[in-house]
Amino acid sequence: MRILAIESSCDETAVAVLTGEGEMLTLESSLVRSQIDIHAVYGGVVPEVAAREHLEMLFPMIHRSVGHDGAGIDAIAVTSGPGLAPALRVGVEAAKALAVFWNKPLVPVCHLEGHIYAAWLSKSKVESRKSKVDPEFPALALIVSGGHSELVYMTGHGKFERLGETLDDAAGEAFDKVAKMLGLGYPGGPKVAALSEGGDPKAFAFPRAMLKDGSFNFSFSGLKTSVLYTLRKEEARINDEKFRKDIAASFQEAVVDVLVQKTRLAVEKTGGVKSIILAGGVAANLALRDRLTELGGELSIPIFLPPFEYSLDNAAMIAAAGYFRAKAGDFADPLTLSVDPNMDIV
Ligand code: KG4
Ligand code: ZN
Repeated sequence: MRILAIESSCDETAVAVLTGEGEMLTLESSLVRSQIDIHAVYGGVVPEVAAREHLEMLFPMIHRSVGHDGAGIDAIAVTSGPGLAPALRVGVEAAKALAVFWNKPLVPVCHLEGHIYAAWLSKSKVESRKSKVDPEFPALALIVSGGHSELVYMTGHGKFERLGETLDDAAGEAFDKVAKMLGLGYPGGPKVAALSEGGDPKAFAFPRAMLKDGSFNFSFSGLKTSVLYTLRKEEARINDEKFRKDIAASFQEAVVDVLVQKTRLAVEKTGGVKSIILAGGVAANLALRDRLTELGGELSIPIFLPPFEYSLDNAAMIAAAGYFRAKAGDFADPLTLSVDPNMDIV
């Protein structure tokens, strides 16, 4: 089955083509056009600007990927939520139009489910992966993106149970806000991570919230506020590079500590987890990748880290999730499908 996938939930316009056969996926192409430069001027993503850019970019990218008539495509997968409504609408309306006029089934995909399915993508763009190196079920997925932080228990393709989530800021959002406090600009995650290199992660004892409550929920707003107060208190040192590095490293360490410890707790409490999947934009964070890899080694459970190029938003992951959805016959009516900006994985 050959899938055309479209992703436009935030500030990346993305189109991918993937072929699936049984459990084997072959990614044929993956185009991503980032709008980071455009939104950086505003210090964050402006939904209407994102939508306008998606509109301009999407059809040329689709044309480049599959030509003008959709020949050889069996289904069209599209991110229908969560995300920015005006941005999502561009991808969804394009997918609906193509599904109607090319007479193809339409597969709506949850963006978060897509992030999880990056674990099914191989490292190189054109390479096959056999099922035996794919995650096995039951799997535990830690989703950490700009809008979401969740621990999800997965018993099969498309079968999810949410164990816990953030009660306030998402992990990526906390990175972005701390970046702003440090005057690092948007998007903040990679900038804070880069600044943390060479910093002392123990320099500041920032809070690790909810570690002892036995739940799988997170909270990052207290941590963010604590960073803010420290910066205010030490205002005179704000331009001192060592101080800045120590703040970034200590903040990152606090986030990673919480994420890794909650993941450990979830593995212990659920029992029998066969794979741990890291998903979402914050999966690009090296400290988090290292610490989860350590945890996997300690627990003797394989850890699936998305290849870097599929950690951030892309359509290859939507195609992978869309393939398994299409296999299960999870189609939508191309005349009535609407976006769901608040969609969740369960
Ligand atoms: O998944 P994603 O591309 O978009 C959403 O679905 O939200 O995630 C973007 C988030 C942003 O908050 C960004 O700052 C964060 O991922 N991020 C990182 C890193 N790279 C991206 N956070 C920490 N370290 C990184 N290296
Ligand atoms: Zn995302």
